[in-house]
Amino acid sequence: MKRVWWILALPLALVVAAVGMLVVPNPLGAKVLAEAKYRGLVAYTPDEAVTIAYTRCSGCHGAEKMLKYCARCGPPFIVVTQSMKKYVELTNQKHETVRPFSDSEAVAITQAWNGLIGNWEAGWGEKNLRRLLQGDVALTRLLETPADARPIELALKNKSAPGSYPE
Ligand code: HEC
Repeated sequence: MKRVWWILALPLALVVAAVGMLVVPNPLGAKVLAEAKYRGLVAYTPDEAVTIAYTRCSGCHGAEKMLKYCARCGPPFIVVTQSMKKYVELTNQKHETVRPFSDSEAVAITQAWNGLIGNWEAGWGEKNLRRLLQGDVALTRLLETPADARPIELALKNKSAPGSYPE
């Protein structure tokens, strides 16, 4: 009888422990959740998107690069993100120095800078942008999503980044 009890209780205890790890704040749970977001299993909130936009994009150059970027400076952020993602892949070829940008990060980060600084995709033409995205599936899908159907960008629409000149 005792053994039966254990057989029943153990899986239950494991489930409770797994759920507990995610629900109760703790370092390991936070890591698991961050990884789930990196892999696109759980969505980034707008706040988190802003945080990763600053942290992940300021590894090689300062945040000024983004804050001073503008519609006259070059292609919209969706293209910038794609080229930075590619650049990281190239620099990692010999040995990994920067963690590659995941699709969900690229999509969240693009929306964050679009929201905080500006989105000038409309002026560039979808066909042209599609070509500049070089077949990046996740970012092309974002390109096809109207700005008001992009949850992070929408939430940040009326915000702006300190030090930037939103247009
Ligand atoms: C692995 C290093 C690295 C990371 C990470 C990185 N960049 Fe860059 N970035 C560069 C380099 C190198 C340049 C070009 C040289 C320069 O202008 O300093 C550049 C240039 C830029 C420019 C200027 C482009 C122009 O036309 O003036 C912008 C804007 C920019 N990055 C935004 C971003 C954004 C947004 C992210 C995050 C998605 C990011 N960077 C992440 C290395 C990086």
